[in-house]
Amino acid sequence: MLEVPVVRARGLSKVFGGGDSEVHALRDVSVDIEGRRLTAIMGPSGSGKSTLMHLLAGLDRPSAGAVLYDDVDITALDDRRLTALRRTEIGFVFQAFNLVPTLTVLENVLLPFELGGTKPSGEHREWILERAGDLGLTPLLGRRPHQLSGGQQQRVAIARALAIRPRLIFADEPTGNLDSRTGLEVLMMLESATREHDQAVVLVTHDPAAAAHADRVLFISDGIVVHDVGRTDAATLSDMVLELAGAR
Ligand SMILES: Nc1ncnc2c1ncn2[C@@H]1O[C@H](COP(=O)(O)OP(=O)(O)O)[C@@H](O)[C@H]1O
Ligand SMILES: [Mg+2]
Repeated sequence: MLEVPVVRARGLSKVFGGGDSEVHALRDVSVDIEGRRLTAIMGPSGSGKSTLMHLLAGLDRPSAGAVLYDDVDITALDDRRLTALRRTEIGFVFQAFNLVPTLTVLENVLLPFELGGTKPSGEHREWILERAGDLGLTPLLGRRPHQLSGGQQQRVAIARALAIRPRLIFADEPTGNLDSRTGLEVLMMLESATREHDQAVVLVTHDPAAAAHADRVLFISDGIVVHDVGRTDAATLSDMVLELAGAR
């Protein structure tokens, strides 16, 4: 079944710097990110993965091109509107977890509401606590991040990303600081977000084992999408990574 795109990139380019130090991080990239799907972005270090994610999430502005949420081109929004869009539509999970050390687990999970100056309804709060429960966080809600393992911290970050019920979750190397078993758990939780809570997840990773959990894998090389494949196994993805590395 074809899913409706939740975000569409059209002709995205990003140039950093100027003159001799000019870097073309992205070159004319057009992709649709579908709802209820886990889409992985793979590619060598420096190929433009994070840049693409930042542009899709409205964290940075392109040098050319458009990023469409429904029919709104977010590259034309002012900073206030962009911030509002991120607070309501987008969740983030980063390699470094990015939890606030002085807040408890529950306060970290509810932080997006605090920052947005809103309160979840009673029903919405229940839903958040259930998701925290799914992630194994119920006994940990009163703890602070330094009292948690890396895997537990990343689960808090996932609960926080889910809390606003965003249409999209961006995860940039979310398993980069985790051992492989804990990383696998985190990936399975991101997968279940797409299945059970109708979220689209965009997973940036250089790890074929992680990308093997995706419904679709985009390969970027030198700022260009060079492959766009459906779900496939880690060995095949690994071969594609090696082939790209050899081609450079
Ligand atoms: N803020 C920046 N200023 C200058 N160059 C940047 C900046 N961000 C990224 N780049 C460059 O753009 C290219 C793509 O970077 P990035 O998207 O971070 O790659 P990846 O995430 O695939 O490792 C790299 O050459 C990187 O050095
Ligand atoms: Mg990166």
